[in-house]
Amino acid sequence: MHAAHSNNIGNSFPGPVAGEKLFPATDLVWGGGRALVERLVTDPPAGALYCLNLRVLSELVHSALKTLPTPYYAVKANSHPCILEEMARLGLTRFDIASLEELTAVQAILPDATCAFMNPIKSVQEIRTAHHLGVNAFALDSMAEMERLLKALPESSRCTFLVRIAVNQADAAYNMSGKFGATREESVALLRQLAAHGVATGITFHVGSQCLDPSAYDKAITEASRILKAAATPLTVLDVGGGFPARHRHTLSHLEWYGKAIRKALDRHKVTFGPALTVQSEPGRCLVAHAGSVAVQIKARKQNLLVLSDGRHGLLSDLWWMHGLHPMRRILCHTGHPPDRTTTGNPYSLFQLAGPTCDSHDFFPGPYSLPHDMAEGDWLEIGCLGAYCLELATRFNGYGSHQFMTVTPPNDHNHPADPENI
Ligand SMILES: Cc1ncc(COP(=O)(O)O)c(C=O)c1O
Repeated sequence: MHAAHSNNIGNSFPGPVAGEKLFPATDLVWGGGRALVERLVTDPPAGALYCLNLRVLSELVHSALKTLPTPYYAVKANSHPCILEEMARLGLTRFDIASLEELTAVQAILPDATCAFMNPIKSVQEIRTAHHLGVNAFALDSMAEMERLLKALPESSRCTFLVRIAVNQADAAYNMSGKFGATREESVALLRQLAAHGVATGITFHVGSQCLDPSAYDKAITEASRILKAAATPLTVLDVGGGFPARHRHTLSHLEWYGKAIRKALDRHKVTFGPALTVQSEPGRCLVAHAGSVAVQIKARKQNLLVLSDGRHGLLSDLWWMHGLHPMRRILCHTGHPPDRTTTGNPYSLFQLAGPTCDSHDFFPGPYSLPHDMAEGDWLEIGCLGAYCLELATRFNGYGSHQFMTVTPPNDHNHPADPENI
């Protein structure tokens, strides 16, 4: 994923204040609960422990299937086999792939999956191989890519080529316009050329990741309709991309708002799009972010700076992009016991966090509100790290090692009504 750093959501919400509960104002369940704590006691990792909550994942998948137009899961968000298996089991069998490796990962789990190759730049060989493996939908944003597609697939009549149009990214945390997206004029020319070659065409866009304003989809659909009108060609598929946000602290966007904005915009432009249009989406982050959490140990405390056993170059890259938004809580004390639930009114202080490497950017200013007596050896669980973090983790400086576990807690597990959430 191209992520031009704007970091605007980190700045647009008030940070926590000392004394605030760790994950206020949320109705969301998250984390690994007791099973995670038990694992930390019996088999503590050297670096971090990545925990996938399969019950939360299942809720996210059900909600996307119910709310978004035909979702193709963007595999780049998290290609772990457990995620792909669970999605297939829950009936999500369409995937947006960006590379042949992602295609192989999907087909290893679900040989009959429907995959769309949505990376707008591919080599002729990649296109041929993907098609040979059953892929029939390909994105493009240039004449050069169209030439590559036509060269690789001379019998392109069974395929759909989707033109990736450039759209406004103002409402997203991660700008995705830096590399891809044809201008209005280029898009019109591409649609006309494709129609002249007799290929089924689509339009696709990406409003930017972690998009906090549902009206961004309305604007992008309006732009697609303007382009289609100018091209005066038929359209088979409209793909509204990804960008649907994960819900952090203070991010109160509901997926339903996005589904509604999309439906309303489609309705307004139905004459332009025509009755036979297939509408689909490519959610990544919103399907997995909330299902993943990471347990890290406090290596050292220097006043109110906590140095962690993993950081920005490991599983915590998301913290660097979105300052102060991730939910977190102490789950195990250095004594080997869970925090004492019977003491009420344990005061909180504001902390900054740092990873273990020598990079001075391996630092998260937060501030994060945590129990005032956080100490070396305590374990912290950080939530909302299910998207992109596993994919982006490196072993920089010899750090970044992690273990992986899944939990499937019972329905009533970890309910927010429990003040400590475990
Ligand atoms: C083509 C494409 N589709 C979908 C996605 C998923 O986006 P998100 O995780 O914001 O939903 C991405 C992310 O990089 C992408 O590049």
